Amino acid sequence: MSSILLFDSGVGGVSIYQHIRQRLPEASIHYLADTARFPYGELSEPDLIQGCIGLIQEHIQRYDTALVVIACNSASTLVLQQLRSRVMIPVVGVVPAIKPAAELSCSGRIGLLATPGTVQRQYTDALIDAFAPQHQVIRIGSSELVRMAEAKMAGQTPNRSALTAILQPLLVQQPDVVVLGCTHFPLLVAELQEVLGSNMQLVDSGAAVARQVEKLCRQSALTLERGDGARFFYTGSQPGPWLFDALKRQGFGEVRAF
Ligand code: SIN
Repeated sequence: MSSILLFDSGVGGVSIYQHIRQRLPEASIHYLADTARFPYGELSEPDLIQGCIGLIQEHIQRYDTALVVIACNSASTLVLQQLRSRVMIPVVGVVPAIKPAAELSCSGRIGLLATPGTVQRQYTDALIDAFAPQHQVIRIGSSELVRMAEAKMAGQTPNRSALTAILQPLLVQQPDVVVLGCTHFPLLVAELQEVLGSNMQLVDSGAAVARQVEKLCRQSALTLERGDGARFFYTGSQPGPWLFDALKRQGFGEVRAF
């Protein structure tokens, strides 16, 4: 049985998993979280490239894999090309939704909320040059937001004043569209929208990535057979009981060390 492999540093890719699950309810999905080296937004580029490619190749060797989704903007904006040249199966990346944001924006001001790594990548500069060259892009790179999303999944309520402090540049400059350029951030969408106000439109790449995955899967009958549900693998320490239960509620029948 072939599976779809979703890869991320932590639980952020669960936001992508939810979109894929809606489109492919029966596909077998493996989720590999490199929690030992979380957060990716702070890793050096060589460490990130070497670590991601090594782990994904190891997973593909252990399990029959039809398709890889790098469900992490920090990794996708860096390793996509190299990974594609090393594996024989399709690789889908998740990168900041600059193009849809530019199309939606009326004010010409877009916010980009991502990790410190993603906001400064050449890949991100190239996306902005290609799709939003006339727009003002307000970039915020925050690992604290990533940690808040992880903590929320593990049962903690995000701290509103900490959130407001992180989002301050957006509150001052008032873009009309904000790109959630990290897969962790859709997990905080209610809190972000509450602080930013309902006039700021939040966009992410989840739905577009799921569409692309479905299209590729429909070309490969294997992953569309009834699968063995979803399995969550982690490289670091064992998740606490709250996170464990949250993952079970998301449909991960098995949560185990990689
Ligand atoms: C991180 O590990 O820093 C966040 C992952 C992402 O960029 O989606």
